[in-house]
Amino acid sequence: MLEEAKSFIKTMYNELNYDKERIVDRLKEIETDIQATGTYDHTTEELSYGAKMAWRNSNRCIGRFFWESLTVADARHIQNEDEFIHAIEQHIQIATNNGKIKPYITIFSKDNPPQIYNNQLIRYAGYDDCGDPSEIKVTQLAQHLGWQGEHTDFDVLPLIYKMPNGTMNYYAYPSSLIKEVPIRHHRFPKLEALGLKWYAVPIISSMDLKIGGITYPTAPFNGWYMVNEIAVRNFTDTYRYNLLESVADAFEFDTLRNNSFNKDRALVELNDAVYQSFKNEGVSIVDHVTASKQFERFELNESKQGRDVTGKWSWLAPSLSPTLVSNYHHGYNNEIKEPNFFYKKAETKGCPFH
Ligand code: ARG
Repeated sequence: MLEEAKSFIKTMYNELNYDKERIVDRLKEIETDIQATGTYDHTTEELSYGAKMAWRNSNRCIGRFFWESLTVADARHIQNEDEFIHAIEQHIQIATNNGKIKPYITIFSKDNPPQIYNNQLIRYAGYDDCGDPSEIKVTQLAQHLGWQGEHTDFDVLPLIYKMPNGTMNYYAYPSSLIKEVPIRHHRFPKLEALGLKWYAVPIISSMDLKIGGITYPTAPFNGWYMVNEIAVRNFTDTYRYNLLESVADAFEFDTLRNNSFNKDRALVELNDAVYQSFKNEGVSIVDHVTASKQFERFELNESKQGRDVTGKWSWLAPSLSPTLVSNYHHGYNNEIKEPNFFYKKAETKGCPFH
């Protein structure tokens, strides 16, 4: 821990041009704390800058140009249930910001954190015959706890959580808190009849945040969507909503024969529809070509600061027309730097009743 703390503090304090003395003093303090208690606490500033660095180091993320704009809510003091739910609702409300989405992270205690069992704070339930298949396990867990959905394709899952000495519980958000966007296409009015929609803010709630040797197990964070995440993957993957055929019908494409290129055509129009719909509702979203341009600017900024950009090619190449953007055309070093976000180990996931 001491080694990781040292490396983090040195990097951060140097980036912020703090003088040598200040670094030495802080390192002494941390060393004393670790020797006496086995751990140390970040200052608010370390927590905040560390979280931003974690975003900057997220190899899968194409949106890193904005890393410095992250708003960090320090929720380390929160121990009781009402305060916890309030902090989560605040996160959703402030991040949604009436559609002008703010990158935001809420960081709970490292020692005694409330636990969150959802993959994202907002997500649609999955059932055998409808909804989002990637949420079937979480949906079963919610049902075990007594939650009942309306059994539509788009039931917003409740928050599933456990306070430090409490039992697992769920909380259904007031629907006014959750901004959703109905999907329409201005040239294909029949699309609307499919009743598709998606939620505005993707808030990942299943990853550990690691800063300077300290792990924060509960630190939900969000940016805004890149359109392909919804249109190409969530709506179109066969193991997700699997909508390509229904959408092509709505567009009145007469055949999906491989060599008719109508699969591709339908996919492009669905991306257009999701993008237009978000924009018309005033909800932030980015297309893949713009996102890649922003990523190039991030790479340039980083190189000006003398830092290497690490990345994971298979995630940075967008899932629609990847060759149209520069990311496709070069390789990335997928080394994992810290601070960073990490997937939780399998044991701590899934339904504890099974
Ligand atoms: N791909 C995930 C989803 O479709 C969201 C991951 C985070 N995305 C983001 N733009 N911050 O829900």
